[in-house]
Amino acid sequence: MKTHYLIVLLLVFAACNTKPKKQDTPKEAQPAEKEMKAVSVTKEPFGTLPDGEEVERYTLTNANGLEMKVMTYGGIITSLQTPDKDGKKGDIVLGFDTLEGYLQDVPYFGALIGRYGNRIANGKFELDGKEYTLAKNDGPNHLHGGKKGFDKVLWTASETRSEDGPALKLQYHSKDMEEGYPGNLDVTVVYTLTDNDELRVDYSASTDKKTVLNLTQHTYFNLSPESETILDEELKLNADTFLPVNTTLIPTGKPEKVEGTPFDFRQPKTIGKDIGAKNKQLEFGKGYDHCWILNGKDREMKPAATLYDPNSGRVMEITTTEPAIQFYSGNFLDGSLVGKSDKKYVFRSGLCLETQHYPDAPNQPGFPSTVLNPGEEYHTTTIFKFTVK
Ligand code: BGC
Repeated sequence: MKTHYLIVLLLVFAACNTKPKKQDTPKEAQPAEKEMKAVSVTKEPFGTLPDGEEVERYTLTNANGLEMKVMTYGGIITSLQTPDKDGKKGDIVLGFDTLEGYLQDVPYFGALIGRYGNRIANGKFELDGKEYTLAKNDGPNHLHGGKKGFDKVLWTASETRSEDGPALKLQYHSKDMEEGYPGNLDVTVVYTLTDNDELRVDYSASTDKKTVLNLTQHTYFNLSPESETILDEELKLNADTFLPVNTTLIPTGKPEKVEGTPFDFRQPKTIGKDIGAKNKQLEFGKGYDHCWILNGKDREMKPAATLYDPNSGRVMEITTTEPAIQFYSGNFLDGSLVGKSDKKYVFRSGLCLETQHYPDAPNQPGFPSTVLNPGEEYHTTTIFKFTVK
């Protein structure tokens, strides 16, 4: 029985965080106080993999009652409950109720992606004159780390103490030449559900041989869980340029200005507004499936995207240290996957906003480098902040 295994780990700071900060403020002025819950991280079994390994699922609850569930398989975020403008909670990520759901042929729902987010052309790259061959798992190209990327491995989980809110540390040791990539790589990803209603994702890694690395998170969001598609949600991207692609979705190498194109999200607009425009790039991606180059400096925190859903009032703001963001409008979803609450995941029923380096950077010397050397520490941070308006 699940309850038998349930371990409740109350973080030490919970007590002080749940107290109102100002004792003299009238109760009516603090509506959030009624909602406040104990900050906690709990753990339960979530099924067994075909090879017999046990999967666990953690639930993180912050001081305002935001709740996120994450499993050790793929570091997958299986649910994220946030309030709408009327304070009603809803699950804003696509996924399944059981582990079996995720063991189908699922396009990376909620998962951590590595070693390389997005595509590497022809499944090949060179480092110091040596050629490395990777799986071609997306037509002629390599996608999201290969046949068994970080989305399909078991991560070791532990709760970590953070002053900001409940946090879960996930660790994975990727062996030298795993999926064709050189170097023994130690990866740590920390998910923190802060008491400011943010999901902060901190990635770090180190290697013992020169390698390439581009980690990201592949959650499909729909800020209106009741809506069929994401087409009415408004998106703003902090990007003056994007990377046009060829027919197999590999960047041509030359960034293009978004101005005057359907790719201009500098001012918020609904995703549906221009997605049907006659445009070669939209044709190649079957919609949006491109990398936008963020304005601002690499390695510094900067705004990346804001998604607003007028229907629920939910807002999600993304900031990151990464130089780019892949916006994928769920164009390969076709209704064949049936998820939580028996919802059919139809064409464009969810979208991904994946902060990362550029696709195919290992083959494109003009792109910011994704090389990680021994002795260097890889570190990137992305924050998803949830509010309503
Ligand atoms: C890619 C899409 C791909 C999807 C996999 C996205 O990151 O950009 O082309 O189909 O992941 O589900």
